[in-house]
Parts: sequence; structure tokens; C-alpha cells
Amino acid sequence: MKKFGLIGYPITHSFSKKYFTEKFEKQGFEDCEYEAFPLQNLSDLPELIKANPDLVGLNVTVPHKIGVIYFLDKLDPAAKEIDAVNCIKIVNQHPVEAFFSGELSSLQVRLEGYNTDAYGFEMSLKPLLHKHHHKALILGAGGAARAVAYVLHKLGITYTHVSRRSIKKQLSYKQLSKDIIRDNLLIINATPVGTYPHIEAFPDIPYEFLTSKHLLYDLVYNPAETVFLNRGKEYGAEVKNGLEMLHLQAEKAWDIWNS
Ligand SMILES: NC(=O)c1ccc[n+]([C@@H]2O[C@H](COP(=O)([O-])OP(=O)(O)OC[C@H]3O[C@@H](n4cnc5c(N)ncnc54)[C@H](OP(=O)(O)O)[C@@H]3O)[C@@H](O)[C@H]2O)c1
Repeated sequence: MKKFGLIGYPITHSFSKKYFTEKFEKQGFEDCEYEAFPLQNLSDLPELIKANPDLVGLNVTVPHKIGVIYFLDKLDPAAKEIDAVNCIKIVNQHPVEAFFSGELSSLQVRLEGYNTDAYGFEMSLKPLLHKHHHKALILGAGGAARAVAYVLHKLGITYTHVSRRSIKKQLSYKQLSKDIIRDNLLIINATPVGTYPHIEAFPDIPYEFLTSKHLLYDLVYNPAETVFLNRGKEYGAEVKNGLEMLHLQAEKAWDIWNS
């Protein structure tokens, strides 16, 4: 049996559990199962892994994407730069192999961390980009926003974070003037604002300054069309929700676990 799972807290509903369970059924992977593990304290992670010796892969969600790094033996360079991990590969080690690799732990497994959010965002954004999308606003400054920033940097797009907190080099929502909106033709919502059940909520930006040259990307995928995207459409902007990114990051995790 190959076991996969999700750690986070609280886990009210799990996209990943549904996605992978359906995938296993559809593709006839009878020896695979996926379980959601609500994990309040990361210090319980080694115990969880010991108790589930069949585990080969984990997805990581809020609030553990950053803290989990301290429990890993190896960090993919992109995850290191982003400083957030949403995918762990669990490699069983032969004790001798572990000894020579210098990674001998009481678990005798090696935990490798990756960030597949960045991959999902990049692959879903790229086809929509035009030359004029060279400056961006990233709404939010959490784990997802870091993956977004990493990708924009990689693509040569300069960006500014917009935050409710007054932090150096970041804009506040109140500072978003007509000039700033017209100067940043790519706007990414990397906050949970507008997510079900609070579907009436939307990021507090001056939508009236949007144009048909704007691209609005919402990492939120439920509902499919948030108020953020809906209001963008009203002003002629191109819009994209987070569903494709979600599927791409899941498939990338699957590739990593099976590589
Ligand atoms: N589509 C996908 O594949 C995918 C992948 C990853 C994440 N996501 C989604 O991306 C969103 C952000 O994820 P995350 O892990 O980065 O979440 P997070 O750490 O909980 O929040 C990100 C940031 O959002 C801002 N924020 C939170 N509540 C807000 C509010 N009420 N009003 C304005 N800003 C608020 C905060 O920034 P400030 O305090 O600086 O304002 C916070 O740092 C979530 O909805 C998540 O589901 C989607």
C-alpha cells in the first residue's frame, strides 16, 4: 500500500483528498490511498510519520507551509527561496544508506520539501501574459504570495505587495491610486478574501481604474468567479481563477512523489 496525505489545521474540507481519491479510482491505482491528517502541532509530525509507515507523500496546507521546513532533511532550491513548502516526499532509507548520506535519523526516512504552488501558478499564468504585463501588484503577503513573488521574479515581472499592515516597500490598500493601478497591469489576489462562504467579500482596490489591458488573477478557486474577478470583468479586464493552479500543483506533487 502507498499512502499519501495532507497535513494542516484545521482541515474542514480537503480538495486534495477528493482530487487524489478520485484520481486513484479513475486510473485504477488500487494500492494507493489518501488521508487528511488534521495536525495542530508540527512537533507531532515525526510521530505521525512513524505511525504511518506506508506514507510516501504529503501535501502541506495552512498553517504549516513555513514551519514544516524545520522538520525536513532536504529542501528543493525553489522551496528554499520561497521559504514555504506545500509538498513533502518521504523517502524510506536503508540504515546503511542513511548513515553514509549523513541523514541517519530515528525515523530512518528522509523528508524532502518542495513548493508546487509556484509551478502551478507559473504554468497557469504564462499563457495569459502579454508584453505590457511587466509590473504587478500582489495582494497579500502570506505563503501563497511568496510563491507568486518567486514566479514573477523568475519571469522578469517587477512586483509590489499590497498589505493591510504598514511594512516597508509594501503598499497599503489606501495608497492604491489611479496611477498605481494604471501602472500595474497584472493584479494577483493572494489573500483568502472572497473564499466560500464569505463570497461577498473582495479585496479593497479601486476597481474603477481597471482597463481592458489588466489581467486579474485570483488564487481563490471557490467560488469559480469571485467578486474580485467579477468586478474586474466589468471594467474589461481579463480574469483567471485559481482552479488550474490547484490542479497543476497537485499533479506536480504526484510527479515528485513518484519520481
Ligand atoms: N489555487 C491554488 O492552487 C492555491 C494555492 C495556494 C493558496 N491558495 C489560496 O491563496 C489564498 C492565500 O493563501 P495563504 O496560504 O497565503 O493564506 P494566508 O497566509 O492565510 O493569507 C495570505 C495573506 O492574506 C492577507 N489577508 C488575510 N485575510 C485578509 C483580509 N481579511 N483582508 C485582506 N487581506 C487579508 C494577509 O496579508 P496582510 O496581513 O499582509 O494583509 C495574509 O498574509 C488562500 O485563499 C488559499 O486557498 C490557492
